[in-house]
Amino acid sequence: MTADALRIDAVGPVHAEALALLSAAAFGEDSWSADAIASALRQTSARGLSAETEEGPAGFLIWRALGPEAELLTIGVAPDARRRGVGGALMEKMLADAADAGCGRLHLEVAENNFAARPFYECFAFKVTGLRKRYYRNGDDAISMSVDLEPS
Ligand SMILES: CC(C)(COP(=O)(O)OP(=O)(O)OC[C@H]1O[C@@H](n2cnc3c(N)ncnc32)[C@H](O)[C@@H]1OP(=O)(O)O)[C@@H](O)C(=O)NCCC(=O)NCCS
Repeated sequence: MTADALRIDAVGPVHAEALALLSAAAFGEDSWSADAIASALRQTSARGLSAETEEGPAGFLIWRALGPEAELLTIGVAPDARRRGVGGALMEKMLADAADAGCGRLHLEVAENNFAARPFYECFAFKVTGLRKRYYRNGDDAISMSVDLEPS
């Protein structure tokens, strides 16, 4: 896939149904519903991004700016679009947008046993900052990670 074939666009609550399909593809039974996505994107602090390849919708990301801190709420790439730079392009756009918004740090939680996402975040210099026991509904633990952002 060439860089030209990958589009990253800003999305809002009106795109919630399309993002819910991507969330279902990426997360299965742990996906966000269209209502949950629309509600998240209606927060004034929240921003959504979608990724599209020549084959169609490939991934999405939702984050929010909370003063000097930004938080990644969810990122997902459809299984057949993985390991082709889609998630990375979404992360780079979010990191740039968060720095532009004046955020100095970006924070996230990831399941302790998510052995795809943890090395993915490490690629973007995220460091582990803590462990949150039984953070998820299914009882799984979460790792807190964060990265300092360069002022834009
Ligand atoms: C995590 C996720 C978003 C990564 O998206 P992606 O488009 O595959 O990521 P990229 O292609 O940009 O990967 C960039 C780098 O991250 C690392 N990486 C990505 N997936 C990995 C995996 N399964 N195992 C190990 N490293 C991985 C690699 O270093 C990769 O570079 P490489 O392919 O040149 O080796 C995707 O796997 C996903 O949607 N998973 C399910 C949903 C999820 O767990 N979301 C995170 C919740 S906290």
